[in-house]
Amino acid sequence: MSSAAPSAPARRRLRLATALPGLVVVAAALIGLFASPSAARSDTASQALRMDATAPITYSAPSSPQQIAAGDVLFQQNCASCHGADASGGVGPNLRGLGAATIDFWVSTGRMPLANAAVQAVRKPPRFNRQQTLDIVAYVNSLQPPAPGRVGIPTVDTAGANLAEGQSLFVLNCAACHTITGSGDALANNFSAPTLHKATATQVAEAIRTGPGNMPWFGPNELTDQQVADIVAYVKGPIQHPDNAGGVGLGGIGPVAEGFVGLLVGVGGIMLIAYWQGERA
Ligand code: HEC
Ligand code: HEC
Repeated sequence: MSSAAPSAPARRRLRLATALPGLVVVAAALIGLFASPSAARSDTASQALRMDATAPITYSAPSSPQQIAAGDVLFQQNCASCHGADASGGVGPNLRGLGAATIDFWVSTGRMPLANAAVQAVRKPPRFNRQQTLDIVAYVNSLQPPAPGRVGIPTVDTAGANLAEGQSLFVLNCAACHTITGSGDALANNFSAPTLHKATATQVAEAIRTGPGNMPWFGPNELTDQQVADIVAYVKGPIQHPDNAGGVGLGGIGPVAEGFVGLLVGVGGIMLIAYWQGERA
């Protein structure tokens, strides 16, 4: 059978034997194509893409007279006892000139109002709805112009964000305190870096730009708005959703690539079995 023309089953086996490596190569190429969207892109190319994109972050501060008036009432009822009627300080620190992002962060994460001034403020269900929170922000922000470096409430557009970049920036700038999985950790002096699993996109950007409590703040010279958006995308994505539901842990390369891995393993396996059975026949 070896010298004569191959018999029909042997030909089929031969075709399988040549088709299998071919399939592997095609599948591997496709995975490569989908798995490394950022690594494949050169730095200059991604810079160009970014320049065309809309601003990754816009900062705004509520300031209508109605909001300021409503915020004044809420502030006197809930904050003045510690921060003073004009927010210049008391048991709690002076809030004037801190900027809208700082006020929004502390109120929207439920840290304020504080019950016990002696312990670190922690995240808890916020006392106020979004509109009331913005009213309080408007009132405090109206008392004094924000100091240099203080920003408005960030709205983050992660559509053009680079996840791989966000990951390396996170590892470099955040993981030391919040851990690599973002689940938080104890720091010195009874302080702790909280979990990042609950923060909204705006709150992540606010924390980065304002440095609450013992956290350092990062200005535009340390992290550009695009880099902040990259980190936000990484926190809102892989950090907050570590298990891609039902998927295999392939480094989060996405359902398309995972589909091809499935194809490769599944179809490849079937072909191997067929080949092995053909061999035995
Ligand atoms: C029981 C006292 C108390 C009440 C009530 C209270 N605070 Fe505070 N606040 C504090 C203390 C103490 C700190 C400093 C806490 C810390 O750093 O962990 C603080 C910190 C803050 C900060 C951060 C200041 C900075 O320099 O970063 C903001 C903003 C703030 N409070 C806003 C408010 C607002 C708005 C209210 C009302 C909704 C409020 N607080 C109610 C005691 C209070
Ligand atoms: C030196 C340690 C340290 C570093 C570095 C650090 N943080 Fe923090 N972070 C803290 C601490 C401490 C708090 C809590 C502040 C408080 O409540 O008093 C915090 C709070 C936060 C919160 C609020 C979480 C919530 O749900 O209330 C977010 C979001 C956050 N950090 C994100 C980041 C990101 C993103 C980076 C990297 C760019 C970073 N942090 C770097 C220590 C750190």
